[in-house]
Amino acid sequence: MFIAGNWKMNTNRKMACTLANGVLDKLDSVLNGAADKVEVAFCPPFVYLVDVAGLLPEGKAVYLGSQNVYFEDNGAFTGEMSTAMLKDVGCTLVLAGHSERRHVIGESDELINKKVRKSLADGLRVILCIGETLAERKANKTLDVNRRQVKAGLAGVTREQLANVVIAYEPVWAIGTGVTASPAQAQEVHAQVRSLVAGLYDTAAGDAMQIQYGGSVKPDNALELLGQPDIDGALVGGASLKVDDFLAIIAAGAKAAASKK
Ligand code: 13P
Repeated sequence: MFIAGNWKMNTNRKMACTLANGVLDKLDSVLNGAADKVEVAFCPPFVYLVDVAGLLPEGKAVYLGSQNVYFEDNGAFTGEMSTAMLKDVGCTLVLAGHSERRHVIGESDELINKKVRKSLADGLRVILCIGETLAERKANKTLDVNRRQVKAGLAGVTREQLANVVIAYEPVWAIGTGVTASPAQAQEVHAQVRSLVAGLYDTAAGDAMQIQYGGSVKPDNALELLGQPDIDGALVGGASLKVDDFLAIIAAGAKAAASKK
């Protein structure tokens, strides 16, 4: 079970530290003995990575993630950040293919794949985000779109590297809208993604793939979503900015994890 908070372009320096500290202070109590079954990550804005890195306890499954990365090592790429730079400040994780980067910033499947491959090659764990828009869902293209994004995102990724990949299914229509995919809708796509990974690699790879759900995950819907057989975690936006809400989602993850095999 992997609960990651994507803070997006939110917080300020003080809030970032207060938020991380607030979650860390109560983490042990909400994990309630399930600490070995639940991983947690914070993905703050770039400029606060160093501050948040300084707060993370050693020896706990709490990771620092970057919301973005570039695929070159260094050079004239104004505004970009390399894998080495991210590792240098304590990141072990990156997001790739987030719908806001696909649809607002305009990143292509090809660019996303370059980021995925470079990050994996340099030892970072990657959360590859996929998901259809409302128009695509209405046109019955949900499976096609997610298949294309998974295949393109994982192109050139080796079977060994796959252990460092998490897929986040984030239907674009559910992000930041307060509209959540129903547990059944989410489960259906998660099962499809798992068999897709099994088809691209092998059954064991499909079984082992961690697949998070993202899109208006809140304390009141987390347990039911995370209890679905193919949902292995959550990528949380808005609710990860509130200490109590994020802790409640982590607690739901711990409960769901304890009830799964
Ligand atoms: P919300 O939880 O705010 O809908 O955002 C989801 C998301 O995009 C996480 O990456």
